[in-house]
Amino acid sequence: MNFDLTEEQISIRDAAKDFAENEIAPSAVERDLTAEFPHEIVKKLGELGFMGMMVSHEWGGAGMDTISYVLAIEEISKVDASVGVIMSVNNSLVCFGIEKWGSDFQKEKYLKPLASGNLLGAFCLSEPEAGSDATHQSTEAVLDGDHYVINGMKNWITNGVQCDVYFLQAMTDKSKGYKGISTFIIDKNTPGLEIGKKEDKMGIRSSDTCTLGLNNVRVPVENLLGEEGIGFKIAMETLNGGRIGVAAQALGIAQASLEASVKYSKVRKAFDSTISELQSIQFKLAEMSTDIESARLMIYSAALNKDNKKSYVKEASMAKLLASQAAVSCALEAIQIHGGYGYVREYLVERFLRDSKITQIYEGTSEIQKLVIAREILRS
Ligand code: CAA
Repeated sequence: MNFDLTEEQISIRDAAKDFAENEIAPSAVERDLTAEFPHEIVKKLGELGFMGMMVSHEWGGAGMDTISYVLAIEEISKVDASVGVIMSVNNSLVCFGIEKWGSDFQKEKYLKPLASGNLLGAFCLSEPEAGSDATHQSTEAVLDGDHYVINGMKNWITNGVQCDVYFLQAMTDKSKGYKGISTFIIDKNTPGLEIGKKEDKMGIRSSDTCTLGLNNVRVPVENLLGEEGIGFKIAMETLNGGRIGVAAQALGIAQASLEASVKYSKVRKAFDSTISELQSIQFKLAEMSTDIESARLMIYSAALNKDNKKSYVKEASMAKLLASQAAVSCALEAIQIHGGYGYVREYLVERFLRDSKITQIYEGTSEIQKLVIAREILRS
């Protein structure tokens, strides 16, 4: 496996790093406090091609590979993991799904503006009674002439308040279980959609998360993605790629925690030297760095398989499992290295811990990743 980055990948990483440091970092602390959505930043990300990175040029995307995508998400999440998830949901869930299963009409109407950052997408699978157990959908879509009438409730929707388009799963035939689930593209201004309260979250506070009620929402048949009954397959396959994005987001948080710890340990003095001279601190840095590099290699492996059109189900779940563990443990260790300063808002590391935890929960909990990995191993 060759993980040498190409010149193009390096230039994309550098562009993302530059944008993150100059355009995102200055407002990151304030937005964490106010939980304000980064409208201007998302607009500029669209102009740079970062909202539809892997979408082909034909449909208004940047036509980049998954490794480039991972590099960009890592750089952006190092500075602000909220922006990382806004970008990742639009790229790997919504754009990917529409490009893979959408009709030309859907690609023209939705994918082009989503890929160029003119529209923002949200992914709606989870329900109050269907989180990890995602086959258990209650939201129902009933055909009525040339429209589907959709009723139900979705929750934990990233971008749910600020988006323009919902990518939503609903049951078209309850008797068929998960083979009766279908996917719809729904315009936000459709009557009957009720955006619930914005969640007051522990971390990734400037990305918005909400519930979505659907009360007799009429969706034209041309907004059904693919055909009836393949919605669960669409959800699972988009989530495989989404898990690579979340893993890259987690990697960014872990890397930021390490870099902050190295910097602090070289200036903080104790016992007549900087604390970087102490073996107790060195061991922590060594373990953090080892966890990060393991996660990075696993993420690249999943991304490379995806780009080479090989199966990446197991690798994506392994990457998310490892990287999210690394994010939480590196953020915790970063706080420990900073001592009392790590526990207060004056330093960034307490935010890294708050932002890290969700990476073990959304787009499939760590327990679900283990289940997916085990099933893939047992199947082979
Ligand atoms: N890739 C492709 N197909 C998959 C798959 C995967 N990762 N996981 C399951 N499938 C397929 C199975 O092969 C099966 O299809 P066939 O019958 O055609 O073979 C079908 O899906 C049903 O699978 P199971 O029989 O294994 O069903 P299960 O109920 O035992 O397990 C599950 C399913 C793996 C637990 C699944 O429900 C799951 O992944 N749950 C987690 C859901 C999740 O990640 N939610 C995150 C929501 S998005 C989000 O976080 C919001 C956001 O905005 C960030």
